Amino acid sequence: MNTKPNSKFVFSVILLCAFLESHVSLAADTISENQSLSGDQTIVSAGGMFELGFFKPGQLSNYYIGIWYSKQVVSEMTVVWVANREIPVFDRFSSVLSILDGNLVLLNESKTPVWSTNLNSTTNSGSVQAFLLDSGNLVLKAGSSNNTSEPLWQSFDHPTHTWLPGGRFGFNRITNHPQILTSWKNLVDPAPGLYSLEPDPEDRSSYILLWNRSRKYWSSGPWNESSHIFNQIPEMRTVSIYNYTYVTNENESYFTYSPPNNPKIVSQFLLSASGKIQQRTWLENSKQWNLFWSQPRQCDVYASCGAFSSCKPTSLNYCKCLKGFVPNLQSDWDSQIYSGGCSRRTSVKCGNATQDGFLKVNMELMPENRQYEGALSIESCRSACLNECQCTAYAYSSSDGCSMWHGDVLNLQVLEANDGGEILYIRAAASDIKKKRVIKPSLLIAIVVTIIGLIVVIFGYFLWKKTLGNKREHKKNHNESKSKFDGGGGKDDAELPIFSLRAIIAATNNFAEGNKLGEGGFGLVYKGILAENQEVAIKRLSKKSGQGHQEFMNELKLIAKLQHTNLVRLLGCCLEDAEMILIYEYMPNRSLDKLLFDASEKIELNWGRRFRIIEGIAQGVLYIHKYSRLKIIHRDLKASNILLDGALNPKILDFGMARIFEINQTEANTNRVVGTYGYMSSEYARYGHFSEKLDVFSFGVLLLEIVSGKKNASFYRFEHSPTLAGWAWELWKEGRGMEVIDESVREACRLDEALRCIHIGFLCVQETPADRPTMSSVIHMLQGNESTSLPPSKEPAFSTHRNSNPVCSSKTTTGLSHNAVTMSLPEGR
Ligand SMILES: *[C@@H]1O[C@H](CO)[C@@H](O)[C@H](O)[C@H]1NC(C)=O
Ligand SMILES: *[C@@H]1O[C@H](CO)[C@@H](O)[C@H](O)[C@H]1NC(C)=O
Ligand SMILES: *[C@@H]1O[C@H](CO)[C@@H](O)[C@H](O)[C@H]1NC(C)=O
Ligand SMILES: *[C@@H]1O[C@H](CO)[C@@H](O)[C@H](O)[C@H]1NC(C)=O
Ligand SMILES: *[C@@H]1O[C@H](CO)[C@@H](O)[C@H](O)[C@H]1NC(C)=O
Ligand SMILES: *[C@@H]1O[C@H](CO)[C@@H](O)[C@H](O)[C@H]1NC(C)=O
Ligand SMILES: *[C@@H]1O[C@H](CO)[C@@H](O)[C@H](O)[C@H]1NC(C)=O
Ligand SMILES: *[C@@H]1O[C@H](CO)[C@@H](O)[C@H](O)[C@H]1NC(C)=O
Ligand SMILES: *[C@@H]1O[C@H](CO)[C@@H](O)[C@H](O)[C@H]1NC(C)=O
Ligand SMILES: *[C@@H]1O[C@H](CO)[C@@H](O)[C@H](O)[C@H]1NC(C)=O
Ligand SMILES: *[C@@H]1O[C@H](CO)[C@@H](O)[C@H](O)[C@H]1NC(C)=O
Ligand SMILES: *[C@@H]1O[C@H](CO)[C@@H](O)[C@H](O)[C@H]1NC(C)=O
Repeated sequence: MNTKPNSKFVFSVILLCAFLESHVSLAADTISENQSLSGDQTIVSAGGMFELGFFKPGQLSNYYIGIWYSKQVVSEMTVVWVANREIPVFDRFSSVLSILDGNLVLLNESKTPVWSTNLNSTTNSGSVQAFLLDSGNLVLKAGSSNNTSEPLWQSFDHPTHTWLPGGRFGFNRITNHPQILTSWKNLVDPAPGLYSLEPDPEDRSSYILLWNRSRKYWSSGPWNESSHIFNQIPEMRTVSIYNYTYVTNENESYFTYSPPNNPKIVSQFLLSASGKIQQRTWLENSKQWNLFWSQPRQCDVYASCGAFSSCKPTSLNYCKCLKGFVPNLQSDWDSQIYSGGCSRRTSVKCGNATQDGFLKVNMELMPENRQYEGALSIESCRSACLNECQCTAYAYSSSDGCSMWHGDVLNLQVLEANDGGEILYIRAAASDIKKKRVIKPSLLIAIVVTIIGLIVVIFGYFLWKKTLGNKREHKKNHNESKSKFDGGGGKDDAELPIFSLRAIIAATNNFAEGNKLGEGGFGLVYKGILAENQEVAIKRLSKKSGQGHQEFMNELKLIAKLQHTNLVRLLGCCLEDAEMILIYEYMPNRSLDKLLFDASEKIELNWGRRFRIIEGIAQGVLYIHKYSRLKIIHRDLKASNILLDGALNPKILDFGMARIFEINQTEANTNRVVGTYGYMSSEYARYGHFSEKLDVFSFGVLLLEIVSGKKNASFYRFEHSPTLAGWAWELWKEGRGMEVIDESVREACRLDEALRCIHIGFLCVQETPADRPTMSSVIHMLQGNESTSLPPSKEPAFSTHRNSNPVCSSKTTTGLSHNAVTMSLPEGR
């Protein structure tokens, strides 16, 4: 496997230096008494999987002996084991890895041993050899054959930061020693960092993550033998392509795992320099490591951001210094690894109370190591902290009284908003605080002027409003055009307000282009401002309803009665001349597709928000299916029909439209198909059959879009997987479910929740309507706790047989846009 010239070298340690100039590597997988390793030489395992030699992780010429995947297997240099983690050598040509007195030893430039297998040389006097096996295990064996009994020493017993498949990771009951994975110090320094993973001394069937070998910050929870997962890693259930096994006997207890049946899958379990455990697989196609699952979340890693630094779970750059603090020099913000935290801009004058003060910060999560000081008043709490040199912060609440922090404050999260949350007072130099308080005289004048101006404006407004109100009152008496807008809603049970066309024209500035909000399924949508400054969305229907005006009005009145927080409210209508116009409540955050599919805007949609949106849509659909007075099948559920209000709550638009345009709602089939390709189930697209299960299908597609941040319509370009569901399914089958999740939320999402959503998505898009769940069971599944196991899903519809659907495939070739346009397909039946 090695591309370098093959040549056998016979030399002793003493002779070694003479040969150093020749760049030759060893052909074997063995280091023996006659065959040492130095310079650029490497040994490669018999099957060509792993390579061992000197490597240099960073810019410095610090060299380490390590094992890595050979280039043919994993093209990105990935070290899985390091011998001399703490003591690098600087000149690899005059350093040597060799067998000395029955041990494998690394000698540095001055021939001093810097690393050794440390076996008792009197017990293994015979000749020994080291073999690099295809599993990545380096074994030291007596004799010259690698198939003799037990190894004297093996690297699998001394893992560094990576646990490879086939390795045992656990506790030796005879020596009473646990195995420990220790993170690298940072990305370029393999020295043991602050994070370590080891079996829990209290329960050997679970693992704990420690900071500085002492502070526990995460536990895997006990192993559950029946479901083969750790309690705190529920996502193992859904991505369990690895076969983890727990073995315990009188000598030892350990876990081992094998990669999936497919031996080609290269996989590893590691403790990253940022304090998280990660299971990842190598993707040969994209030449990168794919994170399978990872625990815990970055902000839950102890001291993840260092001192006086706030962690923001939803941001890519997690760490941010508190107000008045600046990053320490050694902080490495970019690589997101353990940072040295932040320091005060100006140091505090400890012990000189008049010189210091406190900065007030609203906290989402209070820092670690809080000490309760009892029921002091807030003033005495403040002065107690001020008078104590070590006190760095205090907080006060009426329920808990006074609490203080001493030394560095760690693991905190600052609230984004400027109010709410708990308030933390952080000690700071008076000079850092005063800056904010001093108001320049000119500024003061400006403020006074502004306030006076405001008072005048407000007074003027009320005066104007009063005269306007009188006028309107007068108008109302003479006009039958009902303007029942009082903002409250709900009063008008009996009727739907009807607007005059003139009012609509005035509100939209004669349907001005600038007021256009978008193009919905049944016509253009405009923003309108009615009298009393109420903002509304105005939909100008472009189609003719098959019904007469009276029937149309009756339908609209029924629809207007459907009121649910997750449905856009119909506020009124206008039927004049040839116009059919609907007036809806206005949503400032536009439609879901505008946010979800925009690289810069989707950041707004963190996982928590996405999950709430999914739940809200499900509730809205359930309502129209089941609890409303009318049974409505939406038939055109899609991202652009979901509007978001100011708090990003989803509201479904255009429900009932299909009902207006197709009177035959209760029939099992229709002669006209309304809907959007990609969101339509096959029975509907082909035969016009529809039931609630059509909406369930569309909901499934929408759900997958929300989780993946990918447009279903964008998949038509790819031959190999014509739908989003098909693409996701392929990944899912290979246990790469995590890749389905939108990259912008993958790191910070609740993995079990996201994977559950994907699973539910698959259940919803199954080919046979009867297999799809109802909306009420979808909601049940969404809310289900971790222990609810979902039924297995069948392959999604449309995922592979692109041409099995004549309607859709013919439409695909006509070049219709598949997402923006709602199609009405005449179906010859
Ligand atoms: C190492 O070399 C010595 C003599 O040079 C030889 O006797 C011995 O068999 C060799 N050992 C191996 C394992 O090749
Ligand atoms: C070799 O290692 C020893 C012990 O760590 C150290 O004292 C010595 O300076 C090292 N030699 C070189 C050339 O670095
Ligand atoms: C090595 O083994 C011998 C024999 O078992 C024992 O006497 C000696 O104390 C051991 N040395 C060390 C350093 O453990
Ligand atoms: C070690 O053993 C494996 C399988 O048992 C074999 O494929 C490999 O060639 C052996 N290597 C050496 C150096 O004997
Ligand atoms: C090691 O393997 C070789 C060939 O595979 C075989 O001839 C030899 O007997 C084996 N040795 C032992 C101790 O099993
Ligand atoms: C880690 O703990 C040791 C004592 O066990 C202490 O001396 C050291 O300062 C700690 N490291 C950090 C970074 O706090
Ligand atoms: C193990 O998992 C099964 C199925 O998920 C569950 O019923 C059982 O309660 C779990 N056992 C423990 C000890 O958590
Ligand atoms: C998992 O591994 C164990 C032993 O390593 C084996 O007995 C068991 O059959 C394997 N299970 C699966 C599903 O591969
Ligand atoms: C435990 O170790 C002893 C002594 O090495 C050995 O005889 C015994 O078989 C071991 N038990 C297991 C279950 O491996
Ligand atoms: C405290 O601050 C005052 C004013 O700056 C200064 O005169 C005094 O020496 C300081 N006392 C101590 C103990 O630092
Ligand atoms: C009342 O509305 C109608 C149209 O619905 C319009 O023709 C009429 O001029 C309006 N009356 C007044 C006083 O504005
Ligand atoms: C509704 O369906 C019935 C029976 O299928 C049919 O007779 C009727 O004409 C349909 N009405 C409309 C408006 O399509």
